Amino acid sequence: MPQATTTRSGRMQPAGSRLIKFFFGEELPFVSHGRGVFVYDTDGRRYLDGCSGAVTANLGHSDPEILRALHEQAERITFAHRGTFHSEQSEALAERLGAMTGYPYVFLCNSGSEAVETALRLTLQYWRERGEPNRSQFASHAVSYHGATLGGLSLSGHPQRRRVAEALLHEFNELTPPYAYRFAEGRDDAEFTELLVNHTAEVLDAHGPAAAGVVVEPVGGAAGGAITPPDGYLQALAGLCRERGLPLIADEVMTGMGRTGMMLASQHWDVRPDLVVLGKGMGAGYAPVSAVLVSEEIIDAIAAGTASVTNGHTYGGNPLGSAVALAVLEAIESRGLVANAAERGKQLRAGLEALARRHEVIGEVRGLGLLQGLELVSDRVARSPGAPIGSLTRAATFAARDQGLLVYPATGGINNAILVAPPLTVTAEEIDLLLELLDASFTSLTSEESTLL
Ligand SMILES: Cc1ncc(COP(=O)(O)O)c(C=O)c1O
Repeated sequence: MPQATTTRSGRMQPAGSRLIKFFFGEELPFVSHGRGVFVYDTDGRRYLDGCSGAVTANLGHSDPEILRALHEQAERITFAHRGTFHSEQSEALAERLGAMTGYPYVFLCNSGSEAVETALRLTLQYWRERGEPNRSQFASHAVSYHGATLGGLSLSGHPQRRRVAEALLHEFNELTPPYAYRFAEGRDDAEFTELLVNHTAEVLDAHGPAAAGVVVEPVGGAAGGAITPPDGYLQALAGLCRERGLPLIADEVMTGMGRTGMMLASQHWDVRPDLVVLGKGMGAGYAPVSAVLVSEEIIDAIAAGTASVTNGHTYGGNPLGSAVALAVLEAIESRGLVANAAERGKQLRAGLEALARRHEVIGEVRGLGLLQGLELVSDRVARSPGAPIGSLTRAATFAARDQGLLVYPATGGINNAILVAPPLTVTAEEIDLLLELLDASFTSLTSEESTLL
């Protein structure tokens, strides 16, 4: 048996554990169970899940309808390989997801990274089938996160995550990010949009006949904290891709499934990307499920050529995951959760802006719907992220946890930010409680007695 040791907060953690953790030796509570927007640890402490785990548990925890669907499917069959059997569950999921998003084709995977990788492969295959196999260069933003696999990481503007794999990565992350707080340098939205689009055009020109496509998070999540582009930017980017015949790939792993108050965040700007990547909220924490939504043009080219997409992952499209994701879609629709995200998002945003007026450490509030981000600064006027980068984010996350609130760290190595993204089922009273706890967190973080900073 591993020995237990007492931690800073008086909680226990096993010493000599065989399990490799994010941060070796970090003290974390042990999770016990969850109900709705609350999670409980094994000491009986309650936490308001203000970030849906990792912007994933979109229906909250232990939802009875989803548990019933999971249980019923598990009793029938949990796994059958898609190379051997079709499954009614994955057919029904593709049908419903396509109808809810307006896409004719769906490819199923298990994680966001796998789905990003699949979107890249489908795009490469599209070019190959059209007789242009040399098109292999993607362009993505210099502040972004697209996954932990080598393709997804190549796209990611996330210095922390890239570091260890740098030798194997492509420098796809070249585009100026639509991150006005740090990159607009006094330009208004129209001027900043023009700068962004011009830079994208230059990058694509440099790629020339090797250009394969552009990958974008409509609202940037894990690397910067709900980076929301100026209105007009996504339309202009889509226009640029259309002019050049390049597929636009929207990575909506975090922003999709209603999170921002629309089923897909791209819909806020009336943009229909050629491929859309979904994950996280698709299984809503009940099963690892992800997908790529694919337009006619991509599939038509493949259908006219090899008519096969043989790349995939063992568990992709398994009946259990598909049944769970189908139940999640049913819940999103029948409970009006996209509209709730928009409505509660307004309340959350107003509350966060009020907090920013009281707490100097909040440099900016941004985001859409229930994906809100707080940029944290050590000096508001200089917009200084403080040193070392990331320390303010971790301190704020700990301060919140000590108050019984979970928020998500969102720093890729150039700034400090946290995401506030409660489940789409959140009520008005729960948002009020979240804001109270966050207020107390910032008060304790910046108090003279604080040992966190
Ligand atoms: C936008 C985006 N894409 C891809 C991923 C990778 O997803 P996963 O961690 O499920 O592989 C993430 C995860 O945070 C994400 O936010």
